[in-house]
Amino acid sequence: MPTAKSKPFNEQVALVTGGGTGIGRAFAGSLLSTGVGRVVIASRREATLRTAAEDLNGRFPGERAVPMAFDIRDRKSTETLVRKIFNHFGSVDILINNAGLAVAESIEVLSEDGWNQVMETNVRGAMWLSQIVLPKMFEANFGDIVNVSSQAGKHGYADVPSYCASKFALLGLAESIRDEIRRRAANIRVFNLCPGLVDVESDPSGPAKPGFLHVRNLSASLRYALNLDRDVELHDIGMTSRIL
Ligand SMILES: NC(=O)c1ccc[n+]([C@@H]2O[C@H](COP(=O)([O-])OP(=O)(O)OC[C@H]3O[C@@H](n4cnc5c(N)ncnc54)[C@H](OP(=O)(O)O)[C@@H]3O)[C@@H](O)[C@H]2O)c1
Repeated sequence: MPTAKSKPFNEQVALVTGGGTGIGRAFAGSLLSTGVGRVVIASRREATLRTAAEDLNGRFPGERAVPMAFDIRDRKSTETLVRKIFNHFGSVDILINNAGLAVAESIEVLSEDGWNQVMETNVRGAMWLSQIVLPKMFEANFGDIVNVSSQAGKHGYADVPSYCASKFALLGLAESIRDEIRRRAANIRVFNLCPGLVDVESDPSGPAKPGFLHVRNLSASLRYALNLDRDVELHDIGMTSRIL
């Protein structure tokens, strides 16, 4: 029986956008603990990235967490980031589109600036990165793209219509990329995480704030999804907390 090509985790290179804080930083830790060879954490704030990389490299051996500054709203900066990763490490095997933000403006006051900020960061940036990285993944016939959507990608909330629109759009983008991959019968998987509110600050082994998911559950979901067989098409992992 033919099996899809695999690649050991220690030979893989991951790019986690927004990897210096919150969920992205937890993902970086999760990838390092899984044994991923290099984990590039990338966002705008250099000092934040440096501190996060130092902390991660203190916890996991091999200086495998690498900070790289870029701005996802800037096409040139995004292209430069990917070029730098290829020059240094040779591939992007796992792309985690995690960078994102919300602007709390209800439909009555929604500004063009707020809308653009959200859509450019949450959707256009993920589209650019997928567009830049995918040809290399097709060439290598290997890769994973993980999008961090949200329950706001499944339900609308009056306080954050632009955020909801962006997170719904991310799922549509993923579905279209998946269709392209299917057409080419390529060994690339695309899946989305759709969490409710996430607590990124609580004690790593303690409980989450009531009504929030502890971030460790997102890390566990990422590990679970990446460890599935290559011929499994996982779509979304939806997750909400419940009061016990
Ligand atoms: N926390 C939750 O309850 C929750 C629930 C569902 C989904 N999510 C999603 O999870 C993802 C991570 O959120 P989080 O809660 O971990 O919040 P966070 O700590 O604020 O993370 C957002 C990250 O995005 C980066 N970023 C923002 N604008 C950027 C830009 N122009 N270029 C490059 N990087 C940029 C930020 O870094 P810089 O400021 O250094 O650029 C930051 O590291 C987001 O997509 C969010 O929508 C969060």
